[in-house]
This record gives sequence, structure tokens and C-alpha cells, in this order.
Amino acid sequence: MSSTTFPEGFLWGGATAANQLEGAYDRDGKGLSIQDVMPRGIVAPPTEQPTADNLKLEAIDFYDRYAEDIALFAEMGFKTFRFSIAWSRIFPCGDEEKPNEAGLAFYDRVLDELEKHGIEPLVTISHYETPLHLAKKYDGWKSRELVGFYQNYCRALFERYGSRVKYWLTFNEINSILHAPLMSGGIWTPKEELSEQDLYQAIHHELVASAAATKLARELAPEARIGCMLIAMPTYPLTPDPADVLAAKQAEHANYAFGDVHCRGEYPGYFLRTLREKGIELDITDEDREVLKNTVDFVSFSYYMSICETADPAKKTKGEGNLLGGVPNPTLEASEWGWQIDPTGLRILLNDYWERWQKPLFIVENGLGAKDQLVEVDGEKTVQDDYRIDYLNDHLVAAREAIGDGVDLLGYTTWGCIDLVSASTAQLSKRYGFIYVDRNDDGTGTLDRYRKKSFDWYRELIASNGATL
Ligand code: BG6
Repeated sequence: MSSTTFPEGFLWGGATAANQLEGAYDRDGKGLSIQDVMPRGIVAPPTEQPTADNLKLEAIDFYDRYAEDIALFAEMGFKTFRFSIAWSRIFPCGDEEKPNEAGLAFYDRVLDELEKHGIEPLVTISHYETPLHLAKKYDGWKSRELVGFYQNYCRALFERYGSRVKYWLTFNEINSILHAPLMSGGIWTPKEELSEQDLYQAIHHELVASAAATKLARELAPEARIGCMLIAMPTYPLTPDPADVLAAKQAEHANYAFGDVHCRGEYPGYFLRTLREKGIELDITDEDREVLKNTVDFVSFSYYMSICETADPAKKTKGEGNLLGGVPNPTLEASEWGWQIDPTGLRILLNDYWERWQKPLFIVENGLGAKDQLVEVDGEKTVQDDYRIDYLNDHLVAAREAIGDGVDLLGYTTWGCIDLVSASTAQLSKRYGFIYVDRNDDGTGTLDRYRKKSFDWYRELIASNGATL
């Protein structure tokens, strides 16, 4: 029995992203986003036009079923619900001056429903869904003009929802641009043709845009709390050889840099060294340097797995299904998609982040993507997903222990609290939810929703504020 408990007001909930659950990809004036032409996620190049095999075009039809789905979240006792706003619903091309009223009205309806159930919204402003026009015409974040377009977008959101939404995340997994420049940074140039100079300039533009959004929120929505959002992957040395320890530290630096800028307001020395060694000269204006000083209120992150690093080229293999690359850990088991499961890594990471930044932390994604089997129990369709319960339980125990270590943790939202389309592989069979959605990878299915065994487990956990772990 642990002596640690979750704090009063801990924000339990679930997380989603517009392109992975809404569908309605062309309704009510919405423009195309990059996701509408990414039918296979990041495992194949984008198509020229939306194609019928792209599950995201209809996804799980949250656009029409949001009230029913939010009622299910309320039944589990959610305190918060993380969702993203589709940029191309608000600015169909991305570079217009005036927002699309029908797009804004949709999120008003979602917020109404959340308010009705007393669920705190947690909004991601940009979650892997850059308007396609911005990707094709400007090459996404490679262009400085995106900073201004994003600023207009943020202004529209803060003006419309600033009094209703307290928690905002500027960019989903901002550091993933290093590995997935199209999905993360809307950069249309194929990854293999993209120069490091352009990639790092795009990173700079996003970091400036993120800080500018924080600055704008302070003016337009003073009650708002702004967070950055990182893809977190603790990197262990493969062996105790100091060369491996240094290699692991350097791999972590590549990701820490994004949090350091958000929390400290300037580039860290090791990052500037990387630029020098790569021969990259960033265009950083004096105004950029001032804007970067607008640091965040909290740090949020996704956590699914850890990786290893080694200095020995002969041992430098790459783990399967692992977005950041990295060497597999011989001591860990993996999910069906090759993601290595490491609850202790979450405690290590929470301690690291807290010691490094001294900002409240928020776990805004965690979960197990697995193939589920729909069965009938007592006349009800359900999924006996004990494997998911085990995964979540073990990670929450690690989070609780980190709280005991002194970490200030605001909340925990499981990824894909309702089954949705996966980001990396664009499948529906990779399920994370407490709620099963009847839709298959070939697009067939009724879209009906069913409570899994984990649904009741999470409901009881929230009701006890974590005591049933
Ligand atoms: C995160 C993303 O990387 O991981 C989500 O923010 C994504 O959009 C989640 O869905 C799980 O990854 P995947 O590829 O299994 O959907």
C-alpha cells in the first residue's frame, strides 16, 4: 500500500485529436488538412487528393455524435477532456483574414456539452492537422509566414473561447517535427529532400509561434494556462559504457531543447552547439528573441515508451514502430506494434522534467494500442481488455509514486479514450479506447459504441481519485 495519493482536483480524463475522430472532413466550410491526404499515416507518402481508403475522412463521426460520446465520458466521471481544434475548420486555407463561423460554432457546441457535464476542456490548438493549402503553398512551418497565420488562428480561438477554456496546448508533440516533418510541421517537401537548415528554421518558427500564442493569451484570455506539449521518450544508455551514457544524454538533448526553450525562454547551449556543428545559421530576429521569453505555465507530454541509445554503430538497431528511432531495450516487452512498455520510465521521466523545469506537469497521452475482440457478456457487447487495464494501472502507479517523489502533476488523460484512427499507421484496428467503436480498417462497421471492461475500471478509479489502483 503506497503512502501517496493523488491530489484533490486531479484532472482525470481522456485525449483525442480532431482529424482522428471527427470525420466530416469537408462539412460546413472546412478546408482540407494534410491528414485528408495521408491515408496511411506516416508509412506512405501523401496522395494528391482525398481518397476513399482514408479512414480519417469519416473517422468515428464525432462531428455528429459528440453529445453521445461526451455523455459516455461523463459516465466514466471525466474531469477533463482533451480535444484539438481542426485549424482548417476555422481557417479553411489557413491564410484567410476572417474565420469560418460554422467551424467556430461546432466547437461552441462541443464546449456547451462539456459544460453541461462539468468537464473541463483541454484544447490542443494544432494537432498534426496543418491546413493543406499552407503545406502546399508555403511548405508549412518552413515558411516564416506561418507564424502570422497561426497568430490569427490563435486570436480567433482566444477571442471566441478564451472565457470558456482554461487549459491550452500550443502544438501537439512539437519535437516530433524532427522525425515526421509533414505530419508534425506541415512541410510538403519529402523528408529525404528536406535540408537540415530548412528543418531547423521550421523548428524555430514553431517555437516563436508557440511563445507568441502564450503572449497573446496573456492579453486576450488572462485566466488561460498555456502549456507546451512534448513527445516524451526517456533514453537509456544501452550499456554502462560512458560513451553510451553520453550518447543517451545527447539523444535526450535533442528533445529537451524544445522544453528548455518553452520553459526558459532561450535556446540552450547544447542546441546552439548542434547548430554550429551542422553548419546551420538560423534566421533569428531580435523580435524573435523577445517573443521567446513568453514561457509556458505548464509542461504537458505524451508517454508511451522508452528507448536506448549507444555509441557503438554495430549495436545501433532501430526499434519497430518507434517514431523517435532508438535502440530497443533488451529488458522490456513490446506492444503488438513494437512499442516497448516501461511504466518505470514514466516515474523517471516525471522526476527529470520536474527537476529540470520546476513547472507543473500534465500527462496528456498514455495508453496501449491493441487489437480488441468484441464479445457478448450477459447479452451486452463488450471487450475483455485486461491487457489495457494492466498497462494503464502500472503507468498510473508510476505516476502516483512520482507524485510521492514531489512532482507537481496536474492530471492524466489517456490517449484515444474512445477508439479512433491511429496517427502513425491510420488504422482503426489499433485501438486505445475505453469505448469500442464498430468500424474496421476496410471502412465497414455501424459506428455503434460499446463499453469495454476498462470503462468500468476507469470509472471506479476516477470515483476513488486513484485509490483503487
Ligand atoms: C501520439 C499522437 O504520437 O501518439 C497521437 O499525439 C497518436 O495523435 C498517439 O494517435 C498514438 O499513436 P498511434 O500512431 O498509435 O495513433
